[in-house]
Amino acid sequence: MARGHYFDTDPEVGSDPGEVRLALADGPMSLVVDRGVFSAGRVDPGTLTLLRSTPGPPPTGHLLDLGCGYGPIACTLARRAPHATIWALDVNRRARDLTALNASRLGLVNLTVAEPDRVDPTLRFSGIWSNPPVRVGKEALHDLLGSWVPRLLPGASAWLVVKRHLGADSLALWMGSQGWAVRRVCSKQGYRVLQVVVGEPG
Ligand SMILES: C[S@@+](CC[C@H](N)C(=O)[O-])C[C@H]1O[C@@H](n2cnc3c(N)ncnc32)[C@H](O)[C@@H]1O
Repeated sequence: MARGHYFDTDPEVGSDPGEVRLALADGPMSLVVDRGVFSAGRVDPGTLTLLRSTPGPPPTGHLLDLGCGYGPIACTLARRAPHATIWALDVNRRARDLTALNASRLGLVNLTVAEPDRVDPTLRFSGIWSNPPVRVGKEALHDLLGSWVPRLLPGASAWLVVKRHLGADSLALWMGSQGWAVRRVCSKQGYRVLQVVVGEPG
C-alpha cells in the first residue's frame, strides 16, 4: 500500500489521536496529535530547536506559522504574544483541525487556522516562523518561501529551521540569491536555524 505524506491535503490513514508534551522554558504544553500529520510521535527536535533558539515574537501584529502541523509553533507564538494575531496555515486538513483543537484546549483565542489560499493576499506579517516542508521538493519549497517571505513587513524576520542534511545550506544560498539577508542563528543536533530578512543588504 502506498504511504501517504504528511503534506497530503486529506490524509487517508485512519485517525488514532494521542498527545505529546512540548517542553519549553516558558512552560510545558500538551498537544493532541494524530496519524497523517508531521511528527505525531513526538515534538520534532527541529521545531524544539527553533522555539528554544529564537527571540520572543513581536508583541503585536500578524505572526505567521507557515506549515503549522498540529500547532506546536503556532500555539507557542500565541502564548508568547497574546496581543498578536497568529496565523496557522497548512495544506493538510487534519493538521489544521488539530491546531484549532489544541488552541481551543489551551484557551488561545488569538490564533486563526486557515488554508493558505484563504489568507488575504494584502496581509503583511511582523514575523514568520516555520519548520518548512522540505520533503515537497526543492522547487515547491522555493515557490512556498518565495510567496510568503516577501510578505514580511520591512525589517521583520522569518525564522526557519531546516535539517543540515536535508539541504539547509543550499536553501540559505538560494534565499541569499533572492536578495534576502540570511543569518545562521544556531546549528544544533544537525539542524540549522536561519533568520531571513527581506529588503536589507545581506
Ligand atoms: C515539517 S512540517 C512542520 C509541522 C509543524 N510546524 C511542526 O513543527 O511540527 C511542515 C508542514 O508544512 C505543511 N505544508 C506543506 N506544504 C504546504 C504549503 N504549500 N502551504 C502550507 N503548509 C504546507 C505540511 O502539511 C506540514 O504540516
